[in-house]
Amino acid sequence: MFHHEPPRATAIHHEEPMSRENSRIRISTLDEPGVTLEEMIRDVKAGLSREPKDLSTSPKYLYDAEGSRIFEEITETPEYYQTDAEFSILRQRSEEIVSRTGCRTLVELGSGSSSKTRALLDALLESGGPARYAPLDVSESALEESGEQLASRYPDLDIQGYVGDFDKSLRSLLKSAENGSGGRLVVLLGGTIGNFSPESRRGFLRTLRESMGEGDHLLIGVDLVKPRETLERAYDDAAGATARFNKNLLSVLNHNLEANFDPELFAHRAAYDEPHQRVEMWLDSLEDQEVKLPALGMDVRFEKGEGLRTEISAKFTRESAAGMFEDTAFHMLDLYTDPDELFGLTLAAPKG
Ligand code: AVJ
Repeated sequence: MFHHEPPRATAIHHEEPMSRENSRIRISTLDEPGVTLEEMIRDVKAGLSREPKDLSTSPKYLYDAEGSRIFEEITETPEYYQTDAEFSILRQRSEEIVSRTGCRTLVELGSGSSSKTRALLDALLESGGPARYAPLDVSESALEESGEQLASRYPDLDIQGYVGDFDKSLRSLLKSAENGSGGRLVVLLGGTIGNFSPESRRGFLRTLRESMGEGDHLLIGVDLVKPRETLERAYDDAAGATARFNKNLLSVLNHNLEANFDPELFAHRAAYDEPHQRVEMWLDSLEDQEVKLPALGMDVRFEKGEGLRTEISAKFTRESAAGMFEDTAFHMLDLYTDPDELFGLTLAAPKG
């Protein structure tokens, strides 16, 4: 770390550079991932000044090292159906998606461990001809690790990883991942798009659209509208993993902003907002209290029962998914679902 770099928030998408001498894969850095303290101060100050208090516009603060670990735990709870449902769609439909799109390059946004992507890569390699995988992730070590594993499993796959943050590096990613031979399938798995506000979702899709051309396709995972009880249980599991995930946000603020939130003085709540078709996570103050945030130069008052919104997670119908693409100059070609219609994979192409 060089001292002329701006200070960064600890453990949020930041790690020390690593050396990769005998690697079989290529990794390049598109932008410095991580969050500067200045950016975090700006986001949190704005969020805590809103009425109601709202940090859901910056979901990244939920994912420090501990938050990412707890999220993995959530995916293993019986109430959280999304991960298994998406897996089953990918197993069922990957071949069809690859042959229908004719893609030769898979560009994956936020690849993590790339575990779900294997079904798509299997199909891509079986379809014959040169194949390329271009994952983008904030974690260089995750790219390194999953890249090496994939390289031994798929000796013929050309792997080019990119370190970057997908709201900052989209354009440069799609520019570098251009491929003369065959179209690209840009994938965003896991329902991540649900955490965007409608405006930022539109901005994200428009940016993608500008960088995509004829022959390219988009595959995006979306959680589907379903009965309230199922949704609220998925975000309030009996083992309490989601509650810990939510409250961990307060520890992130404490560590980085010298704040003094007491997680014990807040209650986790998940509520389905039916008119807006989204689950919201909140932290409700259990008493009248004042929290100090010296790094922001402010103290924040909470009344007993007052909530802080920490995440939104949009749920889709076939119609609302199609509408989101139409709005942004894409056309939805299909919505693949699992047999129980819990989760969906949308396939879209740029409008001609
Ligand atoms: C990782 C964005 C898909 O919104 O369901 C899980 C995050 N939050 N439980 C989601 C999350 C609470 C998750 N995504």
